[in-house]
Amino acid sequence: MSSSQATNGPSGNIDALLQEHRRFPPPPAFAEHAVAHDPAVYQRAHDDPDGFWAEAARRLDWYKTWDKVLEWDAPWAKWFVGGELNASYNCVDRHNATWRRNKAAIIWEGEPGDTRVLTYRDLYREVNRAAAALLDLGVKKGDVVAVYMPMIPELPIALLACARIGAPHTVVFGGFSAEALRDRINDSGAKLVITADGGWRRGNVVPLKETTDAAVQGAPTIEHVLVVKRVGEARPVEMKDGRDVWWEDALAKASQRIVEPEHLDSEHPLYIMYTSGTTGKPKGQLHTTGGYLTGTSLTHQWIFDLKEDDVYWCTADIGWVTGHSYIVYGPLANGSSVVMYEGSPDYPDKDRFWDLVEKYGVTILYTAPTSIRTFMRWGPEYPAKHDMSTLRLMGTVGEPINPEAWMWYQEHIGHGTCPIVDTWWQTETGMIMITPLPGIVATKPGSATRPFPGVEPAILDEQGTAVPRNSGGNLVITRPWPAMSRTIWGDPQRYVNTYWSKYPGVYLTGDGARQDDDGYYWLLGRVDDVVNVSGHRLGTMEVESALVSHPAVAEAAVIGVSHPVKGQAIVAFVTPRAGFKPSDALTVELKEHVVQAIGALARPERIYYTAELPKTRSAKIMRRLLRDIAEGRVLGDTTTLMDPNVVNQIKQQYESSEG
Ligand code: WTA
Repeated sequence: MSSSQATNGPSGNIDALLQEHRRFPPPPAFAEHAVAHDPAVYQRAHDDPDGFWAEAARRLDWYKTWDKVLEWDAPWAKWFVGGELNASYNCVDRHNATWRRNKAAIIWEGEPGDTRVLTYRDLYREVNRAAAALLDLGVKKGDVVAVYMPMIPELPIALLACARIGAPHTVVFGGFSAEALRDRINDSGAKLVITADGGWRRGNVVPLKETTDAAVQGAPTIEHVLVVKRVGEARPVEMKDGRDVWWEDALAKASQRIVEPEHLDSEHPLYIMYTSGTTGKPKGQLHTTGGYLTGTSLTHQWIFDLKEDDVYWCTADIGWVTGHSYIVYGPLANGSSVVMYEGSPDYPDKDRFWDLVEKYGVTILYTAPTSIRTFMRWGPEYPAKHDMSTLRLMGTVGEPINPEAWMWYQEHIGHGTCPIVDTWWQTETGMIMITPLPGIVATKPGSATRPFPGVEPAILDEQGTAVPRNSGGNLVITRPWPAMSRTIWGDPQRYVNTYWSKYPGVYLTGDGARQDDDGYYWLLGRVDDVVNVSGHRLGTMEVESALVSHPAVAEAAVIGVSHPVKGQAIVAFVTPRAGFKPSDALTVELKEHVVQAIGALARPERIYYTAELPKTRSAKIMRRLLRDIAEGRVLGDTTTLMDPNVVNQIKQQYESSEG
C-alpha cells in the first residue's frame, strides 16, 4: 500500500487505518545482525536494574570505578557514586589511542558547500587546543561557559573542551533572541560566552556576534567573549578591546598544548540545558557526567544499531538536547562517524538533505516529524533525485509522528524497507526512554512502542492509580535512570515541585500517554501549558509574558493549536490596553515583539483581539476553553466561568475570521 493510495481511500484518513493494526516486524536480515537482538535483555534489566546499568557503565573508561551504582534519596539521584571519569576523554582520547585515530569523527558540511572532515586525531588536537585557550582565558573547573554558535565543528570542539576541564557548558540555540540569551547567561552565571561572527542560514548570515553583544550588556558575569570566524568578510564584526578574543588567536596561542583531562567525579556537572516550562522562566536542567554518558552512549548504540562503519546523521541542532545527547556525547563516546550540517534543508534547493545522504553515504538518519511533514509537502521528487540506498535505519524525535508521515518517511526516504525508531524522551530525561530496539521490537506507525531496558514507565490517573489498557493518563517514570536531570540549576525546590510532587517519588513527565492491548505506548502530547512547535518546547506563559511586556497589551492568553507542518502553532488572544485599537499593524508589531523577546520559533501564527479573556471566578484564564474554540470542539465545562458570554464572543470572532 502506498501512502498516496491510502490517503485517497474511502476513509480519506490513513491514520485511522493504520492505528495499532499495522505492525512492522524487524526485517529478518536486519534482526540477524542487530547489535541488540536478544529479547531477554528486557527481563534481565527489569529484574536487576542496577546490575544492568553497571554493565552499561563499563562501556566507558573510568579513572576510578564507582563504589555504588545508585544512591536514591528521592528525588535526588547519584549514579556511579565515587567513580571518576572525563567525558572529553571518553569521546576523544580513548579513540585517539586506537586505530580510530584515523576514523572520521565529524563529517561537516557548511551551508555554502564548504566541507571539513575531522578524524578522531584532529578532534583530539583541536579539543586540547581549545581547552588550553579556555584555561588561558581564566576558565576553571566549575565555571559555567555559555555557547551561542552555528552548527560548525568548533561547536562540539568547544563543548568537549569545556568537559575536559570540568567547566559545565550551557548551549543556547542560535535562533534565540538577545534577551533569551541574556536570561540564560544570568541564570547560569556564565563567565565566558563562545560565539561566532555569524552562521549561514538560507543564504543569509545569522548575526550571532551582534546578538551576543546585545545580550552581554546586562550580563555582568561575562568576562570574555570568544569568537569563531565563520563568515568573515560577509559580516565584519566589532571586537571589544579586552573582552572579545578571536578563537583563532586564542588557539594559536595555545599552540599544540595538551591539557590533561580533569579526573571528575561521576556527578560532576557536565552541562545545563534550558527548557520551557509552565511558568515564564525557563528551567536549567542539570546533567552530570557518569550516568549521562552511560545512558546516552548505550541508547545510541542499541537504538540506532550502531556498527563501526556506520555514517550517522542526526539533523538536530546542538542547541537542543537532541544534539547534545545524539550528535555529541552518545555518538562520540561510541567512536562513530557523525555528519553535521550547518544550514537549511531547502538551500540551495529542497533536496539538500538527500544530497548529503548520497554524498556521504549516510546509513543512519535521525530527524523530526515536523521536518518529515515539510518534506512531504515539498514532494517525493526531491528525495527521488538521489541514491539513498545506503540508509538502513531511521529515527524520529520531538513529537508523536502521525502514521501518514511515518509511512511517507519509510517509503520515500527509507526506500520502503528501513526500520524506523520513534524515540520518546525529554531534555529532563537526557536519553531516549521509550523506543523500539530495531532488531527486536515490531513497530507500529505512531507508537514509540516500549520502554528501553531498565526504564520503568507507568500511566497514572489523577489519584495515582495505574490506568487500564487503552485509557489515557499521565506518563510517569517510576525508577531513576542514569541520564536523568539532577536538578534545576539554582532552584532545587522547583525541580521537586515540577516533577516529583504530584506523585511523590515518581517522575512526572508532563506528557499524556496510553498503552494499547499489546502494551505499546502511544504518546498523547503535553498535558500542561507547554506547546510543541516544530518539535520545540515553548511555555505558553513565556509567550504571554512577552506579549504583556508590550505597551499595547493589557492581557494575553496563548494556546497551541494543531498545525499541519509544525505539529502545533501558537495562537494568542490579546486584550488591548485602553487607548490601543486592534489593527493589522499592531498584529505585525506584536508578532515581532515576541520574536525579539524569545526568538523566531515563538512567533505567534495568529493573534485575536478580545475585550475580555475567559476566566474562572478566581480570575484564572481558562486556556482549555480557548483551545476548544480554536480546535472547533464542543466547549468543555463552562460552569466555573466568571462571565459565560465572553467565550461566545470570542468564538464568534474566531469563527468569522476562520471562515
Ligand atoms: C515531545 C526532545 C511523542 C514530548 C528530545 C516531550 C515526543 C517533549 C517524542 C520533550 C516522541 C519528544 N513522541 N512526543 N517520539 N519525542 N516528544 O525536551 O511532549 O525538547 O515531553 O526533548 O517532546 O521535548 P524536549
